[in-house]
Amino acid sequence: MNLMRTELDFSSEPALTPNTDPYALAKALSGRHLIGGKLVPASSGNSFEVIDPATGTVIGYGAEGDEADVNAAVEDAAAAQKEWGKMRARDRGALIHKCGEVLMDHVEELGRLIALETGKALRTESRVEASILADAFLFHAGLASELKGETVPHHPDMLTITVREPVGVVGAIIPWNVPLLLMALKIAPALVAGNTVVVKSAEEAPLTVLRVCQILASVLPAGCFNMLSGYGPECGAPLVAHPKVGKITFTGSVETGKIVYKTAADKLIPVTLELGGKSPMIVMKDADIDKAIGGAVTGMRFTRQGQSCTAASRMFVHADVHDEFVAKLREQVDAMVMGDPLDEKTDIGTIISPEQFAKVKSYIDHGKGEAGAEAIECSAMPTDEKFKDGLFVQPVVFLGMTNDSKLAREEIFGPVTCVIKWTDEEEVLAAANDSDYGLAATVWTNDLKAALNFTEKLQAGFVQVNQNLVVQPGLSYGGVKQSGIGKEATLEAMLEHFTKKKTIIFNKT
Ligand code: NAI
Ligand code: MG
Repeated sequence: MNLMRTELDFSSEPALTPNTDPYALAKALSGRHLIGGKLVPASSGNSFEVIDPATGTVIGYGAEGDEADVNAAVEDAAAAQKEWGKMRARDRGALIHKCGEVLMDHVEELGRLIALETGKALRTESRVEASILADAFLFHAGLASELKGETVPHHPDMLTITVREPVGVVGAIIPWNVPLLLMALKIAPALVAGNTVVVKSAEEAPLTVLRVCQILASVLPAGCFNMLSGYGPECGAPLVAHPKVGKITFTGSVETGKIVYKTAADKLIPVTLELGGKSPMIVMKDADIDKAIGGAVTGMRFTRQGQSCTAASRMFVHADVHDEFVAKLREQVDAMVMGDPLDEKTDIGTIISPEQFAKVKSYIDHGKGEAGAEAIECSAMPTDEKFKDGLFVQPVVFLGMTNDSKLAREEIFGPVTCVIKWTDEEEVLAAANDSDYGLAATVWTNDLKAALNFTEKLQAGFVQVNQNLVVQPGLSYGGVKQSGIGKEATLEAMLEHFTKKKTIIFNKT
């Protein structure tokens, strides 16, 4: 049953004790931003619906932020930054560590809420994301004492040093596919480095992000970070344009990333952009095929319906092992259970929104119409009547495609992959690099020379051999070409993207 706006209760804030009833929690969080440590409705009083994509029912509302809310959040963050930036770095680190510990206590709650809100299966995706969120805070907490400058041997008559200073207020704009992890990779390093942050959640998934922010607000001084929900042009754009925002970190589409970059250019502020991908997976004929299949299933993020910027959506498989690879891939994906995201038995949930659903379907239809293409539809649609309006899409493995086909060139962000046959090493390398994107790549071989050749020449920011790990704290993450600018998840990324370097020279004479 749809939750109605009239059922919302703004008289109190949801309790901080973990609540594993995601419906109750979604309702209790509805219609608010977090500003100054408090959950507050949008200044306009407007809100937008949050849908459970598995059933199509309204489970909550996001506060519809606009310029007035942005102004309030940024002013508050700017005021809070004065104290936060002056705190001993290790004391800030200790608070961020505390955030990680408290978030650990909420893994089940957050996993269930994000599963309801985004349709990602609890066991395979949502619970995992909630625990990586907590871990990302623990990791970044430890970087606090590394906010060091240098002594520079410039001249014996001068003592020359550099110091790292916070940039001030950071604007963080996040998408809906892995909102918890992606927000953690932005706000934890920004806070540790002495900045305060204003987070703008994606309109498809505002509630779990808000819950995380409410939890963080119980640990951190008020205003250290504020959270707004709302539409991109109405709420995201004024955040980027605000004169007191000194840095933007963004994850999302290439199109929106370029809009953000242009506004930031007008203000001459730095940006980090983590955009899309069309990641190649290259399987050599000597590869351990069973291992490669495991990597293909994880790499393509079938459990996340392929809604991943690093999805291995171009699988280049050597002709000699092509048929075996396809048969085994099909067998594995067929065995995956699609259904209720909150059910422990479920491997695959739903697409996030009707818009993304239509986009994914149109790519599948286009692929089916391509000359020479064969579509293998895997797994099975859920049969429960409850899910008749759910945004479920059967994973599709396309055969007979070339690297020039639309499906191999454009980011689909759905459970759709192309298996492309190859025979010549230099040709497959050229095809893998013939893409607008350059985020991730994997190579599957036991031939050391070939592995070295590929890893050296592949144009991508995150390259793996014989495995397909997802992004982890401590591993530099970010793309080249249209996949973005800047890196995340390491000490260097924190220093480079969330501090300004100042040179100070003392004349000794
Ligand atoms: P989007 O890039 O439009 O949205 C991402 C975030 O940017 C959201 O918070 C949105 O509200 C905000 N935004 C939108 N317009 C803005 C503006 N003018 N100024 C400031 N912020 C703005 O992505 P969308 O529409 O959700 O998805 C479209 C496609 O983008 C997907 O199909 C996928 O291909 C790609 N995408 C890539 C992601 C990645 O992880 N790199 C994540 C999400 C989407
Ligand atoms: Mg958009």
